[in-house]
Amino acid sequence: MAPSSDRMGRVLVVPLVLLVLCFSVEGVDRGNFKTCEQSAFCKRQRELKPSQSPYRALLDTLELSDSRITLQLINDNNKVRLLLELYRLQGNMTRVKINELKPLRPRYEVRDVLIADPPTKPMTVVSQDENGVVLSLGENEQRLIVSAQPFRLDIVEGPEVLLSLNSRGLLAFEHLRLRKDTISQKITSTFGSMWDSIKSVFSSKGDIEGAGGSDNAKNEGDKVEEGEEEEKPGMWEETFKTHSDSKPNGPTSISLDFSFPGVKHVYGIPEHAETLRLKNTHGTDPYRLYNLDVFQYELHNPMALYGSVPVIISHNAQRTMGVFWLNAAETWVDITSSTLTTFGKMLEFVQGSSEVPQTDVRWISESGIIDVFIMLGPTPSDVFTQYASLTGTQAFPPLSTLGYHQSRWNYNDQEDVKAVDQGFDEHDIPYDFIWLDIEHTDGKRYFTWDPQKFPQPKEMLQKLMEKRRKMVTIVDPHIKVDSGYKIHSEIGSKNFYAKNKDGADYEGWCWPGSAGYPDFTNPEMRAWWASQFAYDQYKGSMENLYTWNDMNEPSVFNGPEVTMHKDALFGSWENRDVHNLYGLYVHMATAEGLIQRSGGTERPFVLSRAFFAGSQRYGAIWTGDNAAEWGHLKISIPMCLSLGLVGISFCGADVGGFFKHPSAELLVRWYQAGAYQPFFRSHAHLDTPRREPWLFGPENTALIREAIRQRYALLPYWYQLFYNAYRTGQPVMRPLWVEFPEEPATFAIDNEYLIGKHLLVHPVTDEGAKSITAHLPGKGEVWYDVHTFQKHKGTQNLHIPVTMSSIPVFQRGGSIISRKDRIRRSSSCMENDPYTLYVALSAQGTAEGELYIDDFHTFNFEKEKQFIHRRLYFSNNVLTSSNLAPDSKFTTAAWIEKIIIIGATRPSSVSTKAKDGAASAVEFDFDSTASVVTLHKPDLNAGTDWTVTLQ
Ligand code: NOJ
Repeated sequence: MAPSSDRMGRVLVVPLVLLVLCFSVEGVDRGNFKTCEQSAFCKRQRELKPSQSPYRALLDTLELSDSRITLQLINDNNKVRLLLELYRLQGNMTRVKINELKPLRPRYEVRDVLIADPPTKPMTVVSQDENGVVLSLGENEQRLIVSAQPFRLDIVEGPEVLLSLNSRGLLAFEHLRLRKDTISQKITSTFGSMWDSIKSVFSSKGDIEGAGGSDNAKNEGDKVEEGEEEEKPGMWEETFKTHSDSKPNGPTSISLDFSFPGVKHVYGIPEHAETLRLKNTHGTDPYRLYNLDVFQYELHNPMALYGSVPVIISHNAQRTMGVFWLNAAETWVDITSSTLTTFGKMLEFVQGSSEVPQTDVRWISESGIIDVFIMLGPTPSDVFTQYASLTGTQAFPPLSTLGYHQSRWNYNDQEDVKAVDQGFDEHDIPYDFIWLDIEHTDGKRYFTWDPQKFPQPKEMLQKLMEKRRKMVTIVDPHIKVDSGYKIHSEIGSKNFYAKNKDGADYEGWCWPGSAGYPDFTNPEMRAWWASQFAYDQYKGSMENLYTWNDMNEPSVFNGPEVTMHKDALFGSWENRDVHNLYGLYVHMATAEGLIQRSGGTERPFVLSRAFFAGSQRYGAIWTGDNAAEWGHLKISIPMCLSLGLVGISFCGADVGGFFKHPSAELLVRWYQAGAYQPFFRSHAHLDTPRREPWLFGPENTALIREAIRQRYALLPYWYQLFYNAYRTGQPVMRPLWVEFPEEPATFAIDNEYLIGKHLLVHPVTDEGAKSITAHLPGKGEVWYDVHTFQKHKGTQNLHIPVTMSSIPVFQRGGSIISRKDRIRRSSSCMENDPYTLYVALSAQGTAEGELYIDDFHTFNFEKEKQFIHRRLYFSNNVLTSSNLAPDSKFTTAAWIEKIIIIGATRPSSVSTKAKDGAASAVEFDFDSTASVVTLHKPDLNAGTDWTVTLQ
């Protein structure tokens, strides 16, 4: 959170209490943030309407190497040439890069987001004539068609057009140029004919068609100057409120349109407080991607929020695809739908009818290049795999971090921490982490402790450790300008601060007052930052202390739009170019620090507010400063679902709402919903009344306790899903359509979701709700209410009554879910506890699931294959545990204490057989009303081969 900048003066000189009062304004102050109309490049670009593209592909420049095709494009209006590069990538992806052929200076290309240079595959020319080129993409008769005039790209599969680029002619590339009205005049008046020579240098570099010195070429070159140097407002500087952006490089924006024929549903491009299915932006602003600290954000608004992932996913009943627009500058995304498609000349042979629904997506970025990855699916799971192969998968979190986190701004002192910790024991509520916000520091100097309030941090941490609990402290990236503060003086002396446009250390206002902003784009700075987490550097830290990176958009209270000036510098790049990467880099360096402090043994946990594509590799994300309102509870679902679709599975929202005070009902409902979201933390603003789970009366305490206990019981399932996300890139929390991609009824649902494949959750998010309607998908599927084991058929809207204790959750028939039903103080206390298997039979009487076990906190699962991965399979009345990772080595003391078979018939006897052992009979009972067989103490180890047979 940050106060609005016009309140800044007051805020920074008044004491904290007043500062807090300044925050009681209702709703976002929209005036603090730009609309597209106020963002000069967005306005310029949006003024371009779909029409015939001025770009033409110069087919005679085509060069084909094994894995890459290059081709020049020329803008027939200004004669500037672009270089198009096309790659066929492994895993059914295509990469399209467009840059200026010869830019005046290099344009920024995003670094550190792709995990490697994406491996390519050979591409061949199928045919070529004066209209264009047809390239083979190998798979399923997929072709990439390059039409020459107007330039467009189409990806087709057999007779079907999957995706078109520039079919609406919105490719626009503001090429780098010299400023005519100042520089050219200055140069001309000072140096006479030198301006002519400069122009001829550029002509001879070949970026102007016909270059080579002929008169003709020179005339064309002159035309460029006339056409292109025309000033439009905001090209060379821009003012927003009191802030001016010097734009030393002038206009640099880029844009490209993508059309998805046959598609009505698109998703992704977080972060927005928006429905899962993205809306048409015709008549509104485009969705904006620009990492910002938006105070009191509004719902259902395309405004930017704290993080950005420039990935859009299209889906229809036949196919899922994705477009990853790899650009870290301020970006706007327009989404429009239409029903008419006309195809270019090269496509006439592939398409009969021209009447299809279509979604058009237009990306506009302020700088950089066009670098696009087209993920061709065809299934949702394929798209996740494809995207993971580019940007990596979710970091595999320590088990404890999937437990419950208790936070507020702030726990006041060590006594407070102790009392809250005891409160959990007194009320028999499990929790794993207690959090300390900014007030725990010595005057907002991160990596320090307030000497009065937290004089003995190690003692405090030790006490928590004895209870097998942990702590998180906040470490923000703004650094107090104070020569007595070691962190500041070292960053300063190493010259690691970001610079302002004049080359001095950039300074802005944030929590500590005047603050510097380290240049996290610099690997040396990141290495130094990581070293600060060493136990001997971060005094008072211990191995059960983890980290929270906040305000890393970065938030600059007195900066334009509460962030850093666009012309601030990170090395030779402007904030304009790299802005959306700042948070990712902070997260990266911090996670690295936590890994290093343990000598590379322990898995880190870092929560970050800002993010970009790839942030999943470094930890968790939360949705920032929400409010204690029902709408905010509801929106937490699509916000986390959208993040999951683009790789970031470890997502949560502040339980209870950050601003304002929740009613007991809202708080209970939020715990119930949060218990079934990946990152489960309650958090609250400094100014709110205390709201630990036991402060709302015994009945509500009991309800909250039960929600948290349900979370703990399911930790084995969550853990296995996170392992799966880490290994495969499949999201943990999934929209229904991901598992039921052919059922249009699921495409827009975002008030319920799946955890993995097997649990469907429909939290109660309406005030005073007496019932809910859950959509149970899947023809031929059955779903079991996890609380009653009542069986329901798929493909129905199930209306069920709810009370305050209801958390509607359904287990999919055909699944086996492992739980730990003995709940203790924290997840660590439960590590070796026995498992209960919930075997929910499909209509065919089968079920399957997985169980993953390791030491729950180190990298040994990876480095030394110290893990257990089992497949559990039930068929023909036999339940089998088999090894999914035969070369792994790990043993567990944990046993299976119960097996509950749901949807079963009464067996006459049940026996178990461990590998190489004799069969032995097992006690069981049968509930004929619910059709549930419960096997008691089957005496099986969770990590070995065995079978259970029902006769
Ligand atoms: C803003 C964060 O979003 C919030 O969670 C935190 O409590 C405050 N900053 C204070 O650090």
